[in-house]
Amino acid sequence: HAARPAAAESSQVVVVAHRGASAYAPENTIAAFEEARRLRADTFELDVQQTRDHQLVLMHDVTLARTTDVEKLFPRRAPWRVGDFTLAEIRRLDAGSWFAPRYKGERVPTLGETLTKLSGSGLDLLLEIKEPRRHPGIEGRIARELRAEPAWLRPGRLTVQSFDWDSARAFHRLLPNVPIGLLGAPSAGRLAGLSRFADEVNPPYASVTAQYVRRVHANHMRVLAWTVNDAATMRRLISAGVDGIITNRPDLLRGITLTA
Ligand code: G3P
Ligand code: CA
Repeated sequence: HAARPAAAESSQVVVVAHRGASAYAPENTIAAFEEARRLRADTFELDVQQTRDHQLVLMHDVTLARTTDVEKLFPRRAPWRVGDFTLAEIRRLDAGSWFAPRYKGERVPTLGETLTKLSGSGLDLLLEIKEPRRHPGIEGRIARELRAEPAWLRPGRLTVQSFDWDSARAFHRLLPNVPIGLLGAPSAGRLAGLSRFADEVNPPYASVTAQYVRRVHANHMRVLAWTVNDAATMRRLISAGVDGIITNRPDLLRGITLTA
């Protein structure tokens, strides 16, 4: 490109709303994703797990305890693991009240419902396969739900990431055109090999340096850093050359990209 103004550099950083706009609405709910859209995020991130009856739901923690009223409804079912409950049971839970009274009645969404409801939002999706070793077969079920909502399979609309790189590679074999993100910070020596199936390296922000970003870029992958909720760190990462920032406060990052 010729003579792009220097200020445009930072405006190209992708604004990713972590678990939705989770500073302002209960994480991994439709309300949080709608808030991400309202706050002008580019992309929303979510965490997928599997119920006892092999349905896909959005939940970050391995258990339902922190972000729902499961302990009240099912007092004898400790430790309240997602994979020990059926979808019908999980749908009875309130996933909003823990965050703020006005979100009372917010439900744990299914992946399918989320793909349908956000399809026309204009937002892109960063989908995390959470704890896949607890959920055998989850990659195939995610692929099936995406094929049922093919708008998400258009180029640029979706990335699938995991801390479990074997799971990420297994998903890549099922839907080879969907970009893959690796959560963590692989050593420089591993980048070339991983780039055979991965398109993004998504590290915790504290491990990101300009040199590391250059190494990932040299292997033709992008860098999205997480989870950054303050302006000073956002600016440091933009200077280091990251391609995107995953934040609970997409409005704060959007403000920086517009004024940089
Ligand atoms: O997208 C990055 C981030 O979500 C990874 O950590 O624990 O929030 O799923 P965690
Ligand atoms: Ca996540």
